[in-house]
Amino acid sequence: MKIQCGKMKNMKKLVIANWKLHPASLAEAVKLARKSDKKGAVICPPFPFIPAVSRVLKHASLGAQDIFWEEKGAYTGQVSAVILKQFHTRYVIIGHSERRSYAHETDEMINRKVQAAQAAGLHPILCVGEPLNVRRRGIAAAKRFVAAQLKKDLAETHGRIVIAYEPIWAIGTGKPDKPEESAEMIVFIKKTARKISPRAQITCLYGGSVKPENARSFLSRKEIDGALVGGASLSGKSFGAILQKVQ
Ligand code: PGA
Repeated sequence: MKIQCGKMKNMKKLVIANWKLHPASLAEAVKLARKSDKKGAVICPPFPFIPAVSRVLKHASLGAQDIFWEEKGAYTGQVSAVILKQFHTRYVIIGHSERRSYAHETDEMINRKVQAAQAAGLHPILCVGEPLNVRRRGIAAAKRFVAAQLKKDLAETHGRIVIAYEPIWAIGTGKPDKPEESAEMIVFIKKTARKISPRAQITCLYGGSVKPENARSFLSRKEIDGALVGGASLSGKSFGAILQKVQ
């Protein structure tokens, strides 16, 4: 059965705000959430802001930036999908390159997280993407790198999976990928992911220095199902301008 992905049925593209470790105060988080509360958006604040942001959102969906794979136990500092669900969280970013690098997350850990999210009824937003030294060897090398990530990250998964193609060299650098090359990668990612998880419903977004000035060049492409936005999601004005490109 071909499933139209929930809200995706009425909504052409998904635009996800990854706030990372911002803003610095609850008051600012609530203010930013109010300004970003638009249809088609998913807002992913730091964990402690989730209940307050959840109360504010009327149109946007709520996401988290990470989860742990166990539901409960002696795991100091961790947060489970089951807890997040209770605060109306619908999505969770998993395997962001910053977690792969700063928290040393492996593909095996990421796979467990994707499975835990799905078991609890959260939609995983799985991030994949190659470093600069790989991309310098060409797009075929980048495809091989991303395919190896997908093979491990998506093992034994099913259901709805949002994949974000985020070339590491494009994140936070102001140097986005070329829209035609990210579209080529995204077609490849969808094909590869469908082979690994034949029963999953896959959507694939682009992330990495998406700004109001370049958003249309990515979001207008039929292969690209949306965008994962970091820096430009920290201002209601620029995030709103990106969302406008899909409405
Ligand atoms: P950026 O971040 O938009 O600031 O490049 C994207 C991301 O890390 O998800």
